Amino acid sequence: MARNSRRSFLKQAAIAGTALAANRWTTGFAQSASTAARIYVDPAQRIAPLDRFVFGSFIEHLGRSVYEGIYDPGSKLSDANGFRKDVLDEIKKMGVPVIRYPGGNFVSGYNWLDGVGPKDKRPVVLDKAWNTIETNQFGTNEFIQWCRLVGTEPLFGLNLGTGTPEMAAALVEYCNQESGTKWSDLRREHGIAKPHGVKWWCLGNEMDGPWQIGHMPAREYGLKARDCAQQMRMVDPSLQLIACGSSSPGMQTYLEWDRQVLEECYDMVDGISLHCYYRNDAQESGAAGDTARFLSFNLDMENQIAEIAGVCDYVKARKHSRKRLWLSFDEWNVWYRQRGGDGKRQRAPHLLEEVYNLEDALLVGGFCNSLMRRADRVRIACLAQLVNVIAPITTNKDGFFRQTIYWPYAWALQCARGDVLDLAVESPTYNVRGIPPVPYIDVAATMDGKAVAMFILNRDLENARDVEIIWRESPPQKALFSQVLTGPDLKAFNSFEAPKKVAPELFESSTRKIRVPPRSYTVIQWGN
Ligand code: AHR
Repeated sequence: MARNSRRSFLKQAAIAGTALAANRWTTGFAQSASTAARIYVDPAQRIAPLDRFVFGSFIEHLGRSVYEGIYDPGSKLSDANGFRKDVLDEIKKMGVPVIRYPGGNFVSGYNWLDGVGPKDKRPVVLDKAWNTIETNQFGTNEFIQWCRLVGTEPLFGLNLGTGTPEMAAALVEYCNQESGTKWSDLRREHGIAKPHGVKWWCLGNEMDGPWQIGHMPAREYGLKARDCAQQMRMVDPSLQLIACGSSSPGMQTYLEWDRQVLEECYDMVDGISLHCYYRNDAQESGAAGDTARFLSFNLDMENQIAEIAGVCDYVKARKHSRKRLWLSFDEWNVWYRQRGGDGKRQRAPHLLEEVYNLEDALLVGGFCNSLMRRADRVRIACLAQLVNVIAPITTNKDGFFRQTIYWPYAWALQCARGDVLDLAVESPTYNVRGIPPVPYIDVAATMDGKAVAMFILNRDLENARDVEIIWRESPPQKALFSQVLTGPDLKAFNSFEAPKKVAPELFESSTRKIRVPPRSYTVIQWGN
């Protein structure tokens, strides 16, 4: 492209870019006169390489997530290890790159020693996080074996509630030391000769929350995390360690917790965690069944990312550190109907089995877009959770079905590759009380060689929206994959009886002009 035309392209993009920079809601072009949205694609403008760990997930010892979810030795659908083959194959096919385990709240009372060694010697215990009977038939070694079969990386949570730094470091030694020490030899005694080489670790879970076993003040946690990290690094200096950040922006200690924690342990950790669950009712969000507001919550997620990154950078500057922390958004999802979580001292009780509808799926698509757009700072993110408990996959004894939220997540896993493009987007907006104008069209895109994948959320509940795509260079030639999730009923959901009530449809795409249906999430992957 000649110099002039490049300049004119960038000028057009800059018009939208100005609105973009001025508006924390990222893709707005307030008061646009046109009803068509415009997306400017310039391959030279890139946010960052996409770390696929941003599409991770989470499996906790909670309800039927592990037992009856991924591990069910009595089932006709399980292999010789007791792993549900159908579930394992599905997760493998999805390509989930990293999975957090074993909790969650569960981890803060968990003794990992209960879950290793001969199964008939493992104690049956009361899990005090969920008031559930835990048989310990599935533990560290089973999880790692399962991960290897799935082709995913383990992200291990550590008990910093009732647990000590000594026992956290012992688990690292058990997992990662070759041999010749107390804990590595115990692993070998348990029949596992080769070390597991677990690299990714969370230093506790939601320690800012009064509900958390072992909850403590920020500075105390920061010092404990520091001690823990120091001992763990002595065992294995190659670890990547994540400090426990605020469990939600709604916490009274939000940001202050993160600042104080990092002031104590900044130099010993690599990242900090963020969590958030979103609801379409009055509690917490103020959106009482207000779908227009609900569908903008992914912009709140981006805001949270910016705020926590700001705290990290503040502490970095105060400490004159050269190290920049990355973020681990290791619990996010829609979750508000099945709260509670009293397991009534049962084994594998039905807990937190949220049923997801179309509007939930659209927002999950929005979250995937936001995580891509913040690939410059977020290195890990986990859809919480993966099976049965607030999850895209629901099992029974005869099989499983895919919940609505499965689709946007699976498409991100399938199509998002390479670098995230820094799009300029011009979109008409709508008003929601208390926040800046919300763009109808929310987009993220990745580029891998010549292949481009674009993910488009249309928040307009009534109207299809025309979208013009303006390419800085010649666009790729053909659509390789092009699907949309939409439907007339935002409250429609899938079930064992009607597993395809909300299912993807083929989307008729072109490289320059498309029309996205109302209430929709669309993915298009182009290549040559
Ligand atoms: O994911 C369910 C629970 O939500 C997790 O155990 C906890 O960390 C969070 O509060």
